[in-house]
Amino acid sequence: MSSDQNVRFTVAPGGALKGRIRVAGDKSISHRSIMLGALAEGVTRVSGFLEGEDALATLRAFKAMGVTIEGPDAGRVVIRGVGMHGLKKPDGPLDLGNSGTSMRLMAGLLAGQHFEVEMVGDASLSTRPMRRVTDPLALMGAHIESTPAGTPPLKIHADSALKGIDYTLPMASAQVKSAVLLAGLYAEGKTSTTEPAPTRDHTERMLKGFGYEVERDGATARLTGGGKLVATDIDVPADISSAAFFMVGAAIAKGSDITLEHVGINPTRTGVIDILRLMGAKIDISNEQEVGGEPVADLRIQSAPLKGIRIPEALVPLAIDEFPALFVAAACAEGETVLTGAEELRVKESDRIQVMADGLVKMGVDARPTADGIVIKGGEMAGAEVDSQGDHRIAMAFAMAALRAKGDVVINDCANVSTSFPDFVVLAGETGLNIRSEG
Ligand code: S3P
Repeated sequence: MSSDQNVRFTVAPGGALKGRIRVAGDKSISHRSIMLGALAEGVTRVSGFLEGEDALATLRAFKAMGVTIEGPDAGRVVIRGVGMHGLKKPDGPLDLGNSGTSMRLMAGLLAGQHFEVEMVGDASLSTRPMRRVTDPLALMGAHIESTPAGTPPLKIHADSALKGIDYTLPMASAQVKSAVLLAGLYAEGKTSTTEPAPTRDHTERMLKGFGYEVERDGATARLTGGGKLVATDIDVPADISSAAFFMVGAAIAKGSDITLEHVGINPTRTGVIDILRLMGAKIDISNEQEVGGEPVADLRIQSAPLKGIRIPEALVPLAIDEFPALFVAAACAEGETVLTGAEELRVKESDRIQVMADGLVKMGVDARPTADGIVIKGGEMAGAEVDSQGDHRIAMAFAMAALRAKGDVVINDCANVSTSFPDFVVLAGETGLNIRSEG
């Protein structure tokens, strides 16, 4: 879906990426820091917070529900927690913009409140499937209305007495898992989720950081409702999903050598490293440490010839947001790259399989979408004018493609880059991408 204002990137061909940078804060962890900090007892201090529109949408929503939040100021946020039952009814609907994570996780949290609340989103979010969260929440006793198509707005009715359930997820989704677990905080008895494949586990880790017990038994996560959260400090690592654009850019552009500092390398997020390494990329991981329950490290990427691969399906949920960038790597690789088992990409901020294929074909790449993936044959890329369809990750992926294109790459509808990576153009320019943003 398009955003109102056409921000257009024009990226001149060629160049290489060099230097040391720290990319934007992790979006998933930033959202959760606000949600759990708001419900905790005491003051939570966050550093490294993503000052992007998605995380800010969550922050504003909790302010609208009466939570005092200071910042963000250079990535620092102070949240004065109101306790599990201290949220207040907001004056109007909560506008979550482009952010699916905000809406799905908050559907779970708000199902347990004593007030009615409505959540709305932008044109893209308003087309995204919500039954994946409203169905399990209904099984717990929540009353949530959506449109007949199961899309936002979501109206959550008050005072539902929630009961714990054992829920087996039909798809690998951290958002669904998190929505059920967060509702489980308010449910009677135990709530468990069992996932078909590992997905990001930031909710489980952060709940533990706030002193809430979460049991893990293979693919099952379980908690007991009725407990409390105790405020803590959170250091948000740099987002591996934002780092991915620079990883791919450096891998494909000859002469590149870039170091990305303090990147979150939670094993449920590192599929992009594994896939790029299978393709032949040169990636060194150093300075590994654990910060507030999340592993972080510096990633150094140097250019190397890439080869096409069949992407192992087990890696798909572990790299779910990185495929737009990985498709660009595939377009620069020798031979064919085949992705299967990735139908979830069709219901992200855009249909990422179709929108990426359309842009790559415009650049002269042999990219053939399938129902659950894509087949991309590497080769030369021409300059072209492409459309991101308002999808931040598609805009940034095509910007990196210019490093190997033969002519200018012009990308339309890039305003939403600010949802996850507001400094992208500046950092990309500083490290060697010849990028201009207008509008
Ligand atoms: C997210 C989970 C993923 C991811 C999204 C953020 C999260 O979605 O695509 O950008 O923070 O839990 P799914 O869990 O729906 O795959």
